[in-house]
Amino acid sequence: MALFDPPSPSSTGQLQDGFGRRFSYLRLSLTERCNFRCTYCLPNGFQAQKSLPTELSRDEIRRAVAAFAKLGLWKLRLTGGEPTVRTDFTDIARKLAQVEGIRHLAMTTNGYRLERSAAKWREAGVDAVNVSIDTLDRTRFAEVTGHDKLEGVVRGVDVALGAGFASVKVNSVLLRELEGSGWDDVLGFVAHRDVSWRFIELMRTNDNAGFHQRQATPGELVRERLDASGWYALARREGAGPAVEYAHPDYRGRIGLIAPYSSGFCDSCNRLRLSSRGKLHLCLFGSEGLELRDLLQRDDQAGELVERIEAAMPAKMRGHRLHEGDSGATPHLASIGG
Ligand code: 5AD
Ligand code: SF4
Repeated sequence: MALFDPPSPSSTGQLQDGFGRRFSYLRLSLTERCNFRCTYCLPNGFQAQKSLPTELSRDEIRRAVAAFAKLGLWKLRLTGGEPTVRTDFTDIARKLAQVEGIRHLAMTTNGYRLERSAAKWREAGVDAVNVSIDTLDRTRFAEVTGHDKLEGVVRGVDVALGAGFASVKVNSVLLRELEGSGWDDVLGFVAHRDVSWRFIELMRTNDNAGFHQRQATPGELVRERLDASGWYALARREGAGPAVEYAHPDYRGRIGLIAPYSSGFCDSCNRLRLSSRGKLHLCLFGSEGLELRDLLQRDDQAGELVERIEAAMPAKMRGHRLHEGDSGATPHLASIGG
């Protein structure tokens, strides 16, 4: 090997791209369907398109995850759409928790079934759960999501906290209309709960350009607020995601910030995405995605599948082009799993 060639995946035992980034984390969308209609994602609710291929079956999903695990990805997140609208969600989770090489199984949910099902999901092998709550104001929550379900979702978080998950986090999209209000609610929420409340900068997608222009607000404002009120940034852990987390001696929980528009955001990218119809996405804001489904049909295709995934890696770009107003081919985050 020439001195400056990046090590090949097979020489390190782990998948990596042309910029030396290694991939340990697979985000697997189980469905594009969602029962909520968040203003920034699916404002008109999920619209079924008959012409599209069906969702991956349980066997296809198992084969895909086994291939990524062979390539060194050990953390898996089940996402959507809303992954739990699949009636076979718990069975899928149970199967995937047993795939050799998978050490962490997380899920992201809008929380509408959390209160009822958290214990069952934990028992199936899910060890971490992220719940979307953009505001703790009941009326505004209903306006943002189309559902008056805030109280049930918050009870769900508390049930999850008691169910033995290794981590419970909240995702909260920063919207200008919610700015200024709700800060005290968030402080109250994290005061006695062992949760991480993560504010996420609103990302522009193909479908939400106008909304983004009206509602995007920089994460910097959150950071200034945290800095000014005694919160301190925690050191990033090895393999940690893109959130910068803050703690405060008077609060049990933490507050985090995910700022995809900040510089260097993509430098530590450690994740790949698989859509609910079997396409590999190297970036949330990349191109159409690489078809894997034809190689998910039989167990004896595993070798070819691994080779196709390896061969795709050099095409991963250094970073997204959101700053230039280019959101790639992503209509909304429900399409490839946020
Ligand atoms: N920008 C930022 N976050 C988004 N989410 C969905 N769409 C967007 C967007 N355009 C969030 C959801 C969920 C997480 C997976 O991504 O609220 O919490
Ligand atoms: Fe559904 Fe999540 Fe999109 Fe809201 S953000 S509509 S909960 S997929």
